[in-house]
Amino acid sequence: MQGKKILLGITGSIAAYKSAYLIRMLVKAGAEVKVIMTPSAKDFVSPLTLSTLSRNPVLIDLFDEQSWANHVMLGRWADVMLIAPLSCNTLAKMANGQCDNLLLAVYLSATCPVVVAPAMDEDMWHHPATKINIDILASFGNHIIPVEKGDLASGLHGDGRMAEPETILKYLEANFFLTSKLKGKKAIVTAGPTYEPLDPVRFIGNHSSGKMGLAIAKELYSRGADVTLIMGPTQLAFSANGINLVNVTTADEMYSACIDKFKEADITIMSAAVADYTPINKADEKIKKKEGSLNVELTKTKDILKALGEKKKKGQILVGFALETNNEEAYANQKLKEKNADLIVLNSLNDTGAGFGYDTNKITIFEKGGKVYKFETKSKSEVAKDIIDTITQLYYA
Ligand code: CTP
Repeated sequence: MQGKKILLGITGSIAAYKSAYLIRMLVKAGAEVKVIMTPSAKDFVSPLTLSTLSRNPVLIDLFDEQSWANHVMLGRWADVMLIAPLSCNTLAKMANGQCDNLLLAVYLSATCPVVVAPAMDEDMWHHPATKINIDILASFGNHIIPVEKGDLASGLHGDGRMAEPETILKYLEANFFLTSKLKGKKAIVTAGPTYEPLDPVRFIGNHSSGKMGLAIAKELYSRGADVTLIMGPTQLAFSANGINLVNVTTADEMYSACIDKFKEADITIMSAAVADYTPINKADEKIKKKEGSLNVELTKTKDILKALGEKKKKGQILVGFALETNNEEAYANQKLKEKNADLIVLNSLNDTGAGFGYDTNKITIFEKGGKVYKFETKSKSEVAKDIIDTITQLYYA
C-alpha cells in the first residue's frame, strides 16, 4: 500500500467507529488517506479523530464560506475510493445518482475504482430495495465487499455487519495493489482427511483437521492466486471468502475433483491425508453386530498425487506432503521420485507440535533437484508462508 492514495468515504452508520481503525491500518501500511464524511456520519464518529489519524483535514461540505471543495479533483487524486461503512441511505442515493452532499458528488465524478463496504441491520440488508440497489452498484462496476454475519447494533444477530478493517485492507491489497508473482496463477490445494464408508453410519478415516491446507489456500489467495480448495470432511469452522471451495468425502471424490481441476492448474499442493485403503463392500444398510469377529476387506484407493504426477505438463508445479514416523528423509525422497512431484513437504510425527490437529507444524521441504530446506516449529499460517515463499523463489523469481 506504500504511497497509494485512498479516498475514504464514511456514512452515517454505527460501524463508522471501525473507520478509525481502518484509517490507522491504511496509514500504517503506507497509504495516504483523505477522508470525506456525510453530514450524518459526524454523529457517529468525530472528524477530529479522523483528521488526526489520517493526518489530513476531513472534508464534509461541498461549500464553506471561503471555498468550494473540488470534488472532481478529489476523485481524480485517488487510486481507490472506498466507502466504508456504506449506509442504506447513501447506497440508495448512489444507485440513483443523487448528489446532495460532497461524498456523493465525489462518487459521481470519481474516475478511480470505487469499493463499498455496506453496513446495516439484517432486515434492511435483506430488503428487496437494498438488493436491487446493490445490484445496480455492481452493474456500474463498483466493487462490493460482502457484509459479515454477527452481532448487530440492534441487538439482533445476523447478516449486515460491515466487513472487519483487516478484511477490507486485504481486499484492497488483493484487488488493486498486488504486485505478487502469484497474481492470477491458478492453484489447487487439497486438505483434510477422506472418509471411506463401511455402511451408512460408519467410516474409516483419520485425524487430519484440514488446518494446514486451509492456511496454504489462504496464503495463496492473499498473494493473488485463483485458489480452489478441495476439502475432505472437517470440523473446522471457516469462511472460504474468495477461495473456491469444493467439498468431498471419499478419496475417490477427491481424485475426481483433482483430475477435473488439474489441467488448468499452475500450482497444486496436496496436503490432504487421503485414505490409502477403502472397504471393497459398502453396505447399504447398517452392519448389525453378530457373534465372532468381523472381517472387512479393503482395497487400495487411487493415489491422487501419483496420478497428477503422470499427467503433469511443463510449467505445472506439483507439491506433495509426507507424514512419516521413521526414515523420514529416505521416504520423502522416495515420494518425490515415485510421484513425480517437484517438492515434498515432510512433517515428522517425531517432532513435537507437528502433525494432525496442532496449530503449529515443523516442516522440511525436499526439492527434486536435491535441495533441502529446513524450518523451525511455527504456526500453520507461518508454515504456509514458508511453503509459498519457497515455491515463489524456486519457480517464479
Ligand atoms: N496422496 C494422494 N493419494 C492417496 C494417498 C496419498 O494423493 N491415495 C498424497 C497425499 O496428499 C500426500 C502424499 O500423497 O501429498 C503422500 O501421502 P502419504 O500418506 O504420506 O504417502 P503414501 O503415498 O500414502 O504412502 P505411505 O502411506 O505408505 O507413506
